[in-house]
Amino acid sequence: MSITEQNLTDIVVSTLNSDDPRLNQVMESLIRHLHGFIREVEPSDEEWMAGIQYLTEVGQMCNDVRQEYILLSDTLGVTVLKDSLNNKKPEGATEVSVLGPFYREGAEVMPLGASISRGENDGQPCVVRGRVTTPDGTPIAGAVMDAWQAASTGFYEQQDENQPEMNLRGRFKTDENGYYHFKTVKPKNYPIPGDGPVGKMLDAVGRHNYRPAHIHFIVSAEGYELVITQFFDATDEYVTSDAVFGVKESLLVDFQEVTDPAQAAELNLPVGGWLVEFNFGLNPE
Ligand code: BEZ
Ligand code: FE
Repeated sequence: MSITEQNLTDIVVSTLNSDDPRLNQVMESLIRHLHGFIREVEPSDEEWMAGIQYLTEVGQMCNDVRQEYILLSDTLGVTVLKDSLNNKKPEGATEVSVLGPFYREGAEVMPLGASISRGENDGQPCVVRGRVTTPDGTPIAGAVMDAWQAASTGFYEQQDENQPEMNLRGRFKTDENGYYHFKTVKPKNYPIPGDGPVGKMLDAVGRHNYRPAHIHFIVSAEGYELVITQFFDATDEYVTSDAVFGVKESLLVDFQEVTDPAQAAELNLPVGGWLVEFNFGLNPE
């Protein structure tokens, strides 16, 4: 049979012959969508080559500490779509959000109330507190919460030689009633890395590379699904245009300025410090 524009897609698909049915399924879908894309866009030779060159540059930007393909997936909404499909949660369970490239394992387990801010210019002091429960509100004692964030300079500790090692990272365990609290700094919005091909793509299509102010969390407890998430400052100017589409309504929080001296003293904060509350719901396994 001769190959024509009309039958080409089916002919390519018909060559798939793996013993692994999932691989055949994934490859068939990939081929059909790629062909569909080419049929719709009808790229010129120059445009096709520019696409190949772009993907080459994305690969060349990757190294041990920089994963430009994940950043591309994040900025095209692919990561969030994949995470949503893989993490359907019942009412009362915390929604997930992107892990991001700045997580580091091995943060110190700290006593409740301790501060994860070890740098001199991390930002304005802030208490984070809340509870970890099941979706129906039963407290989970001994849940482990791994928290990390950027300093108010917009940099995570590993991007910034002026911050102490493992700055703004810590792990906490909920008490017997599922409560947690710790000190940190009020997060600020910051740009994701824009000095590579992803930055070039965002510029080219008229997008910014900012994320709204947020704190990242991984919360786990035995017998429950682990949750990777973040909460976001509801008042941030980028909350409706996150460069990686991670914001969900249920993850918005209000940072309250603590102006009452008695409350500030109780929270071990200076007057003018900040308080934010967020409760996590973990889904049983
Ligand atoms: C972050 O929030 O750390 C992040 C997430 C996705 C891409 C880049 C940064
Ligand atoms: Fe982040």
